[in-house]
Order: sequence, then C-alpha cells, then structure tokens
Amino acid sequence: MTPVPPVPLRSPASYLASASPPAVAHSAAAGNGANGRVVAPALPWNGRYYDFIAGGGAREPAPETVAQRLMESRVFVRLYENVMRPFFVRVFAGPNAGAPTPAEEAKLYVDLLAIERGQGPWLDMSCGAGGFTRGLAEARRDATVVGLDISGQMLDKAATQLAELSNVCLIRADVHELPFPDAVFTGVNNAGSLHLYKDRDTVFAEVFRVLKPGGTYVVSTFAESRRLLGRVFTRLTGVRRTDLPALPEHLARFGFIDYDVRRYGDIFMARVRKPA
Ligand SMILES: C[S@@+](CC[C@H](N)C(=O)[O-])C[C@H]1O[C@@H](n2cnc3c(N)ncnc32)[C@H](O)[C@@H]1O
Repeated sequence: MTPVPPVPLRSPASYLASASPPAVAHSAAAGNGANGRVVAPALPWNGRYYDFIAGGGAREPAPETVAQRLMESRVFVRLYENVMRPFFVRVFAGPNAGAPTPAEEAKLYVDLLAIERGQGPWLDMSCGAGGFTRGLAEARRDATVVGLDISGQMLDKAATQLAELSNVCLIRADVHELPFPDAVFTGVNNAGSLHLYKDRDTVFAEVFRVLKPGGTYVVSTFAESRRLLGRVFTRLTGVRRTDLPALPEHLARFGFIDYDVRRYGDIFMARVRKPA
C-alpha cells in the first residue's frame, strides 16, 4: 500500500504528461489534504521511495556528463561515501585546503540549517546515498527530512542505509522540477551537487519556491580553480564549477538574502535565506 507522504506532494508536469493512466495532482499533507482528506491514488510509490521519474512511465533521463553517468553506476555508488566522495573532495579542494571530514561536514549542515531550532520539514536535495540525510534526520527525530535524488542507484542505497529512520522520506525526482507545492520546507540542504545541474537558474528558482518565508538554503560545491589539476578534472568529469565572486548576486536575483560563505581551497559552502 502506498504510504501517506509526510509532506505535500505535487506531481511535476513532466510526470503528469508521461503517467499512464494519467496521474492526479496530489494535495496530500500529513493527514490534512486540501479538503481535509488525503488524496493520493496515483502516487508513484515503489516500496522504497516515491519515484516521479520511472513511476510515470517516462524514459529514463540520459546522463549528459561523465560525472552524471557515475551517479548511476552500481560500483561507483557502492564505493561513493567511503572512497569516491572523499577522493573527489580532496582533488577538487586542492592541497592543504582544510576541507571538513564527512563527519565534520554533516555537523556543519546541521548547524548552518539551524536544525535544532527550526520546525521542519527539511529537504536534502540531491541526497545521494543519504549520508547527510542521516545527519539531518538524527539531529531532529521529531521532524521530517526528505531525501530527493534523480539516481535510482543512489536512492536504493539510501533506502537501505536509512531504513531505521522513520522520519526520513525518499523521493526520486529532478531538482529542476521539484514535486512539492510552494513554501513547504524550513530548510533545503544541497551538498556537493550543484556542479551536476544543467540549469542552475531553474534550480535556484525551485529552491526559493519550495522554501517557507524565512527558510534557509545551504549549498556546497566546487569554485572555479586556477590549479592545473583542478581544471583537468573539471574537463574530464564535465562538472560545472561556480564563479564564487558572482554567486551572491546570482542568488540575490532569485530573492535570496543574507549571503554567507565558507571556503576550503576550491570547495565552498554558502548559506542564504528567503525573506521572512
Ligand atoms: C556527488 S553526489 C552528492 C550526494 C550527497 N549530497 C553528498 O554530498 O554526498 C551528487 C548527487 O546529485 C544527484 N543529481 C544530479 N543531478 C540531479 C538532478 N537533476 N536532480 C536530482 N538529483 C540530481 C546525483 O544523482 C547524485 O546523487
């Protein structure tokens, strides 16, 4: 049986267009839909997560870059958290960058999002295998954390690793078309993924849309690099680095305020807010 989602879901237009039989728009909220009843007959639940990509019968999106293809590789995903991520962070950050360890990084996201003080729910956008989703969910077991990713391989691993956390809900969808109505989340965490997105304007607009007034967006990714090795890796993997000096203005264009950043060599974490 399809479980009632702990956050309101709205089927993306691409899902509605491809779903057969046609899916309905969902207004299910934690026991309190638009008309007081939960309405979710066609939610694409596959037993582990809501799948707005395959669930609609659409063709699987073709990964455009080497980096994107890796996220669908079973071997890469198996080695991702313990081997691949630490390796890539080190290579992309550069020597002596002082980049946080995964445990330190997890704590930084909890702190930057002020999880202890907020009401929730939180969205871990592009959650991968769920390492940081776990950190957020363990910090606030009384609130919902949604882990969303486009990679079925990543989500399968996340579903296994996070199975005992009853406050986590996993969703397969594209960040360019988030399956939520407006103003749902207290905070959006977006670790190590912006460099993979095709159109970050659309993504920033989507994040702004799904945040509640006063909500927080935390993003970490790779800044442009002057190091030869950094540039070679960028070319080989197809990642899209960020022009860090231009980022505050870029985010401000979408309405975000209170820009704050921490830099570790060529990687960084930025935090902004949606005005209250
Ligand atoms: C390098 S991993 C980061 C995972 C995790 N947040 C972390 O920091 O370890 C990047 C993730 O972004 C996801 N991703 C890439 N493009 C996406 C998109 N268009 N929509 C949703 N997720 C996407 C990939 O599937 C992958 O799991």
